[in-house]
Amino acid sequence: MMHKFFAKTQFIGKNVIYLPQCHSTNTEMQTFLKKTTLEEGTVVMADFQIKGRGQLNGRWISQKEKNILMSILLNPTFLSLHQQYYLTIIQGLAITDALGHFIANDVKIKWPNDIYVGANKIAGILIEASVSKKSIDHAIIGVGININQQEFGTLKATSVLLETGLYQNRDHVMELILLYMEKWFQKLKNKQYEEIILKYHALLFWRNEKHTFRVQGEPMEGKIQGINDRGQLIVEIQGKKRTFNHKELIFIK
Ligand code: BTN
Repeated sequence: MMHKFFAKTQFIGKNVIYLPQCHSTNTEMQTFLKKTTLEEGTVVMADFQIKGRGQLNGRWISQKEKNILMSILLNPTFLSLHQQYYLTIIQGLAITDALGHFIANDVKIKWPNDIYVGANKIAGILIEASVSKKSIDHAIIGVGININQQEFGTLKATSVLLETGLYQNRDHVMELILLYMEKWFQKLKNKQYEEIILKYHALLFWRNEKHTFRVQGEPMEGKIQGINDRGQLIVEIQGKKRTFNHKELIFIK
């Protein structure tokens, strides 16, 4: 089903496939791509996912018609394989830019790909890339953002509504996200890495603060410094810089 959606973008969101319900917008995009070619910037959006997927085989649960559930198709053939993490970074920047229009409190990026307000998660990103020998052929950028949902059970989660007391039109927030995503994608294409990393560092959750982490089962005090050119997290622990991959360290307090 096509959706009339007038994003003032150049290419992201010009073609929108709207599904009232599906398993997962990422999976739907993959299925479409097996049958047909889709133009870069195509967006699959849904009001409900039966099998919403999260990072590391997790699930993404979202009440019907309350939140943004979408996947964006990009062809970042200009990125080398080890630069794939930049896609997560720019999507995180686009989400924080857009949510900044509504939320007065700081919206932060918890490395590598969670968006937080205070101690609660407001959005998540799941990127699935198809790679050829040296570059990234296409990437499906899955984005879940809590907009008008009020209850999250025991999850440490929040929404734009919970943060502000106001309901938002999901299409409007989505258009902002797509506009900012296009802006950051252009910067990435133009190889403006420094500007991207500077902004990412400025938004990094717990950066330059003393906190407790768990590393190989051991609690340790450390200070996040930033990411290196492979997208790994640099943490200063007992005066030494150490680097970590996803899940090699756990944020405690
Ligand atoms: C995470 O934080 O674990 C990532 C969550 C990503 C959720 C989005 S919702 C739209 C897209 N379709 C999915 O099945 N997952 C992503």
